[in-house]
Amino acid sequence: MKVKTSAPGKLMLFGEHAVVYGYPSIVTAVSSRLYVEIDKIKSGFKIESPQVKDVRFVEETIRVFKEKYPFNFGLSIKTKSDFSSQYGFGSSSAVTVALLYGLSKLINFNLSKKDLFDLGYQINLNVQGVGSGFDIAAATFGKVLYFLRGGKVVEELKTESIPLVIAYSGIKADTPKIVKALREKVITNKSFYFSIFNQIGKIVEKARIFLEEKNWTKIGKLMIENHRLLKQLGVSTDKIDRLCQKAIEAGAFGAKLSGAGGGDCVIAVVKEEKKDNVKKALIEAGGKIIEVSTNALGVNEVKS
Ligand code: PMV
Repeated sequence: MKVKTSAPGKLMLFGEHAVVYGYPSIVTAVSSRLYVEIDKIKSGFKIESPQVKDVRFVEETIRVFKEKYPFNFGLSIKTKSDFSSQYGFGSSSAVTVALLYGLSKLINFNLSKKDLFDLGYQINLNVQGVGSGFDIAAATFGKVLYFLRGGKVVEELKTESIPLVIAYSGIKADTPKIVKALREKVITNKSFYFSIFNQIGKIVEKARIFLEEKNWTKIGKLMIENHRLLKQLGVSTDKIDRLCQKAIEAGAFGAKLSGAGGGDCVIAVVKEEKKDNVKKALIEAGGKIIEVSTNALGVNEVKS
């Protein structure tokens, strides 16, 4: 018996880093997905995963799942992704959630989305040691989510597809490393960093309203503001700043880094007529355009 599942990648829209310290964030699931195919075999585990990093998550997912829901057969697992793990789209969270869902189908056990999230978050923490769980939430629930650390609040926003242009900076970010480095700095100057997190939290509250109103001009302004604060946290780079600047000069309403910083992607909110212009400017500045849409569906079974 074969089970096939898929889960979406994600992009952080607002609130990265501050979310780790208990402030809210907004994340969207993206149309690029990660696919998992699971087959029962007599014994042992065979894992075929082109993205090497994902194997650790696959192994930990099987371990945690089996401990909670024991089964007495082996597994053959194949993963395939629409996107490169370089981009920071959350391939490890997507693989974790898609596999958990697939395993639950394989043993005919109905796991609620909340159960899936909780298990996925635990696995994520076991492997990485840090993280708010926003990526697990995007893979599980899909759509655009207002999210608080550990899934304390997960609320779907009533918004339509967000007119984004996305550019990969060419540099792979090491999220756990950046999160840990910031934690060291926060310890030494709590009041400074928490005042920034607090301002980011306020931006997220406003962004939530403007996203539901589809007010892209105001969303753009908030992105610029959020990026300025991320720079103060010290997580941006010259290349990322340049990409944001060029996108704005070419007509974007606003732009910011997305995720931990240090590399990965820049997102810009742009009206349709200006998209080509903005893409051209981003390419000239050394970015690679990634065509994905927002508001994607959460984890599901792929019927073949
Ligand atoms: O680098 P990404 O796209 O995985 O995003 C990290 C976002 C942080 O807020 C810095 C960490 C987290 O787990 O929320």
